[in-house]
Amino acid sequence: MALCNREGGAVRKEYDMILVTGGAGFIGSNFILDWIGLKGEAVLNLDALTYAGNLANLASLEIDPRHVFIHGDICDSALVTSLLAEYKPRAIVHFAAESHVDRSILGPAEFLRTNVQGTFSLLEAVRSYYGKLQGAEKDVFRFLHVSTDEVYGSLGPVDAPFTEGTPYAPNSPYSASKAASDHFVRAYHYTYGLPAITTNCSNNYGPFQFPEKLIPLMILNALEGKPLPVYGDGQNVRDWLYVSDHCSGIRAALEQGHPGETYAIGGLNEKTNIEIVHAICALLDELRPSHDGPYARLISYVTDRPGHDRRYAINPTKIMKELEWEPKETFETGIRKTVQWYLDNSAWSQSVVSGEYRKWIANNYSGRNGDEQ
Ligand code: NAD
Ligand code: TYD
Repeated sequence: MALCNREGGAVRKEYDMILVTGGAGFIGSNFILDWIGLKGEAVLNLDALTYAGNLANLASLEIDPRHVFIHGDICDSALVTSLLAEYKPRAIVHFAAESHVDRSILGPAEFLRTNVQGTFSLLEAVRSYYGKLQGAEKDVFRFLHVSTDEVYGSLGPVDAPFTEGTPYAPNSPYSASKAASDHFVRAYHYTYGLPAITTNCSNNYGPFQFPEKLIPLMILNALEGKPLPVYGDGQNVRDWLYVSDHCSGIRAALEQGHPGETYAIGGLNEKTNIEIVHAICALLDELRPSHDGPYARLISYVTDRPGHDRRYAINPTKIMKELEWEPKETFETGIRKTVQWYLDNSAWSQSVVSGEYRKWIANNYSGRNGDEQ
C-alpha cells in the first residue's frame, strides 16, 4: 500500500505503523517525536486540533514520511473505521482527550464527549478491526490507553501512594470522564478480548505543554511580570514526571506489558504547588533575572479550585520491576530543562497564546481574588 504524508513520498508495508490519537497535544507530540527518533516506525496521527493541539509541536517532522497527520475527531467512527482499514496499524496509543481540570469545571460537556464517547467510539471501531485480524497480526496487536492518576481521587498527607489496586474515586469532571474511559477499556478487554493496556500516570511537565497548566503558566506569567496565581494555600501535592519519562513508560507498556494489565507511572517526585512555583522563580532569577527583583514577588494566592484534590502520589513499583522502567530525569534536571525550553522557544509560546487563550485566562482567573491568604 502506498502511503503519503503531507509532502508525498514513502512506501510502507502493512502492520508496521502505529496509530496515535491526540498526537498534536503536549504528551502525544513528545511521544511521536521520541518514537520516530528512537524506533523509526511510522505514525498515523489522528488529532482534532482543539485549542490544545498544535502542529507546530511536530514541525521537525513536516517533511518526514514516517509522520502522517489526519485532522479528525475520534468521535467520527466512520473516519476511524476507514483509517484502520486503510493504514492497518499494529497498535494504537490513545492520548486524545480534554485534559484540563479547570476547563472541566467550567464546561464538563466536552469532557463527556471526547473522553467518554470518543473513547467508546474508538473502542468500537478497534473492536471491529481487531476481530478481522488473523495470525501474527492479531497476536501482536495492542490498544494502549493513556490515563491519569487523578482517577484514584485525593490522598491524605500520610496515605500510601496510589497503586494499580487503588479503588477509583474521581472528584472532578475531568477525572470522572477519564475513569469512565478506563472502565470501558477494561470492559472491552474482559468482554471482547481486546488486548488493551492502561497506563495511569502522574502530572507531566516539559516542552510543548499548553500554558494553562501549572508549570508553563507560571513560567510565562513570570516572564511577562504578571501575577503567579497559586490556588488555596499552595500546599496541594502533585507527583511530577518529566514528559519523556512518561513516554518511555508508555513504550515499555506497549512493548512488554500484558494485555488486561494497568501500569501506574510516576516520578517519585512529590512537591507542593508552592515549592514548584518557588523552584521556577529561582531558576528564572538565575537564567533570566528581572530588573524589578526576584520573580517570587509576583506570587499571589487566589481562590481555590472547587473540589481541589489535596495530594496525588504514585507507587511505580510494578512498572519498575516488571517492565524495568525507570525515570531518567530528577525533578531538578527536568524542571531546569523545561524552564530553559520555554526561554529558548518564546516564538512557540507566542503562537499558542491566541485570542482564545486570553479569553480562557480571563474566564478562569477573573473571579478569583488575589492574595487571599
Ligand atoms: P493535551 O490537552 O495537551 O492534548 C490533547 C490532544 O488531544 C490535543 O492535541 C487535542 O487536539 C486532541 N483532541 C482533543 N479532543 C479530540 C478529539 N475529540 N478527537 C481527536 N483529538 C482530540 O493533553 P496532554 O496533556 O497531552 O494529555 C494527553 C493524555 O494523557 C490525555 O489522555 C490525558 O488524560 C493523559 N494524561 C495527562 C497528564 C498530564 O499531566 N498532562 C498526566 C497523565 C495522563
Ligand atoms: P494543573 O497543572 O492544572 O494539573 P492537575 O490539576 O491536573 O493536577 O494543576 C497542578 C496543580 O497546580 C493543581 O494542584 C492546581 C494548581 N494550580 C494553581 O495553583 N494555579 C494555577 O493557575 C493552576 C493552573 C494550577
